Amino acid sequence: MSIERVGVVGAGTMGNGIAHVFARSGFGVILCDVEQRFLDRGMETMGKNLDREVAKNKISAADKAAALGRIEPVTDRAKLEACDFVIEAATEKFEIKAQVFRDLDKACRPEVILASNTSSISITKLGALTKRADKVIGMHFFNPVPVMKLVEVIRGLATTDESFHTVRDLAVKLEKTPVEVNDAPGFVSNRVLMPLLNEAMFAVMEGVATPEAVDEVFKLGMAHPMGPLTLADFIGLDVCLDIMRVLLDGLGDPKYRPCPLLIKMVDAGWLGRKSGRGFYKY
Ligand code: CAA
Repeated sequence: MSIERVGVVGAGTMGNGIAHVFARSGFGVILCDVEQRFLDRGMETMGKNLDREVAKNKISAADKAAALGRIEPVTDRAKLEACDFVIEAATEKFEIKAQVFRDLDKACRPEVILASNTSSISITKLGALTKRADKVIGMHFFNPVPVMKLVEVIRGLATTDESFHTVRDLAVKLEKTPVEVNDAPGFVSNRVLMPLLNEAMFAVMEGVATPEAVDEVFKLGMAHPMGPLTLADFIGLDVCLDIMRVLLDGLGDPKYRPCPLLIKMVDAGWLGRKSGRGFYKY
């Protein structure tokens, strides 16, 4: 089956980035979120991010208009019935994603692959909620999606080679580099990244160094484009905490214990860049 129209569930940071790259590559996109205002915000963000690409002469103003014109924002999940492939980028909470997968399984044709952009939740578990576990797969993009080259392609226990190859080829069509990973908590990216960010938070909490100093160490000593605390603010501290909890639950090793300072900051509503305050003020 050729994939021409894709569905993207969730118009937040990851969802609008994913819709952006599909539309830029010529796919029709049905972008679905629960409220019109989330769709409006997502469309506005895509407009601004496409403008950056126009300003850098990566695309023309006409390409921008064509990409936006390929995106149909909808609030009714049943409209995803028209899609040849659907990727879910809803909030990183199991119950929310589980409901999306149950709905998608009902709405979409049986041959349609259902992917999740989850950063840590079990693909095997999401697949088991559907009647098509062989066609459920992880397609994990990185923020900012229009810029980052990687797509982690995650096979659940039941995912077939055919589904894997389809999603791998799709990533290549988006000019991304797919990397194959098996299903395990946090996959590879967050299994390794999150404990680093969490440990940087422990260093701050214990007074080893300020956030600025920790970030300088990684920028200048390890050539990271952002230090770990800037990156944590960029990802969202609530997302970091959710992922640490998935690692702790799924792997059962106390080394994945979320830093108490992270928990406290999330309790305070200091979620990083998106809330105006995290390890830094914005
Ligand atoms: N859309 C389109 N283009 C964008 C963009 C966006 N949202 N954000 C940045 N850009 C473009 C810029 O226009 C610029 O283009 P040129 O190279 O052509 O000039 C380029 O990206 C670099 O941007 P800037 O010059 O503004 O800033 P920078 O050099 O400081 O780079 C950055 C910004 C790309 C975000 C860089 O700091 C970086 O790579 N940071 C690390 C990001 C990272 O680790 N992401 C992964 C997070 S983990 C995750 O996403 C997964 C998870 O599960 C939690």
